[in-house]
Amino acid sequence: MVAFQGRKIGIVGAGRIGEAMIKGLVDNGLTDIIASRRNTSALSGLANSYGIRTTSDNKEVADDSDIVVLAVKPYQLNEVLSEIASAESHQNPAKLYLSVAAGKKMASVASILGQEARIARAMTNIAFLVGKGATAYSLNSNCDEADRRCVAAILETGGYATQIREEGMDAVTALSGSGPAFLSSIFESLEKAAVWQGLSPGVAKKLLHQTIAGTLALINDKGMAYATLIDMVKTPRGTTEAGLEHAKQCDLDMLLKGMIAAAKERAEKLGT
Ligand SMILES: NC(=O)c1ccc[n+]([C@@H]2O[C@H](COP(=O)([O-])OP(=O)(O)OC[C@H]3O[C@@H](n4cnc5c(N)ncnc54)[C@H](OP(=O)(O)O)[C@@H]3O)[C@@H](O)[C@H]2O)c1
Repeated sequence: MVAFQGRKIGIVGAGRIGEAMIKGLVDNGLTDIIASRRNTSALSGLANSYGIRTTSDNKEVADDSDIVVLAVKPYQLNEVLSEIASAESHQNPAKLYLSVAAGKKMASVASILGQEARIARAMTNIAFLVGKGATAYSLNSNCDEADRRCVAAILETGGYATQIREEGMDAVTALSGSGPAFLSSIFESLEKAAVWQGLSPGVAKKLLHQTIAGTLALINDKGMAYATLIDMVKTPRGTTEAGLEHAKQCDLDMLLKGMIAAAKERAEKLGT
């Protein structure tokens, strides 16, 4: 049985991530879901599409759920938390809060919900919307193993999820949060470079996409190490060696380290 079965789940801020989560939960057989946002016609759409209950009252969501997922934008979180802190059920010590707001520390959530509150925090990425998210989560010391299993199961409806110490969240933001944009930027450059060498844009795109998918299948599905794959492709004085030698001269490694470091540094600043 999935860990969240039998527990009522509330989604506060049913936007892109919130809706993807609702879809994942419904696909896993959970129907006891209540969701909120302010736009009432969007709420009707959610109720019709997923057969869930909806409301524009965040307190109602909090009162009517065992697990409250906070999926509003980071700058909207404090206001929503203050509303929830004034809900009738707020004193219930069994209630679990899961925030997916980027950069918001659990201590900041606890400063509004109270030091006794069970709080989990997750950092996911855009691929959550297609069930391929890369998510890391942390739990505060009030949470127990049953809470951890629920959090993991909820997040796994949108892809891969792993528990980490909260100190690692800024690095996760840099790697998997920004990662889809970083990789898209690299893919775009590769595609442009191939067109510049004479391929038609359509052919370059298709060949690149298939190359990405094939590389990922070898690394991910077959568990091949990067170095093994590189050795299998590279021959002495061959084409791959020429390209990799150029990357080394341009210090590609340093460039990518710098991208991750810059994103992590920005995440640290935004989180303070
Ligand atoms: N999208 C991503 O790729 C991504 C990746 C990592 C983390 N995250 C995190 O996930 C969270 C949600 O992001 P998102 O992309 O899903 O944003 P989103 O689509 O804007 O969803 C947020 C929702 O919150 C609702 N909302 C705003 N104020 C509210 C209030 N006072 N009460 C109830 N609902 C309210 C908004 O709907 P109304 O305007 O109708 O109220 C909106 O639908 C963010 O904190 C973000 O940091 C997102």
